[in-house]
Amino acid sequence: MRRTGALLVLVALGAAAEAPSDAAVELSQLRESAREALSTSCGRCHDRTRSTARPAALRIFDLHERDWSARVTDVQMDHMVERFEGFRMPQADRVAVTRFLDAERASRAALATPPVDAAAAR
Ligand code: HEC
Repeated sequence: MRRTGALLVLVALGAAAEAPSDAAVELSQLRESAREALSTSCGRCHDRTRSTARPAALRIFDLHERDWSARVTDVQMDHMVERFEGFRMPQADRVAVTRFLDAERASRAALATPPVDAAAAR
C-alpha cells in the first residue's frame, strides 16, 4: 500500500518537525493521488524506475521523486491537462490530477501573495 506508506512518512515528518497544516496535508494527499493517476498513462516515460523512461520527460517530472511536481512550472501544469486526451487518460484519473493541479496552483498563489498586513502597510 504505497499510499499508506506515504501517509506514515507524513505523520512521522509532522511529529519530528512542527505539525503540518491541514492544507499542507491535503495537498500532499492530492499529490499522491495524482501520482497514482499519472502513473498509468504517463509513467512509462515520466518514471525513472521504468525501462521505457525518457530522460527529456524526467527533466519535466519524475513520478519516482517524492515531490514529483516540484519542478513543474505553471505553464507546464496547463500542458499536462492538454496531454490527457492524447494519451487517452481515464476520466477518473483526469479528475484526480486536475484536483491536485488546482490545489497546487492555489498553494503557489498563496505563497506568492504578500500577507495582508504587509500589503496594507505600503
Ligand atoms: C511516450 C513517452 C511519454 C508519455 C507516455 C508521456 N510523456 Fe510527457 N513528455 C515526454 C517527453 C520525451 C517530454 C520532453 C519533450 C517534450 O517536451 O515533448 C515530455 C514532456 C512533457 C511536458 C512538458 C512539455 C510541455 O508541453 O510543457 C509535460 C507537461 C508532459 N510531458 C506531460 C505529460 C502527461 C500529463 C502525460 C500523461 C498524460 C505524459 N506527458 C505522457 C514523453 C512522454
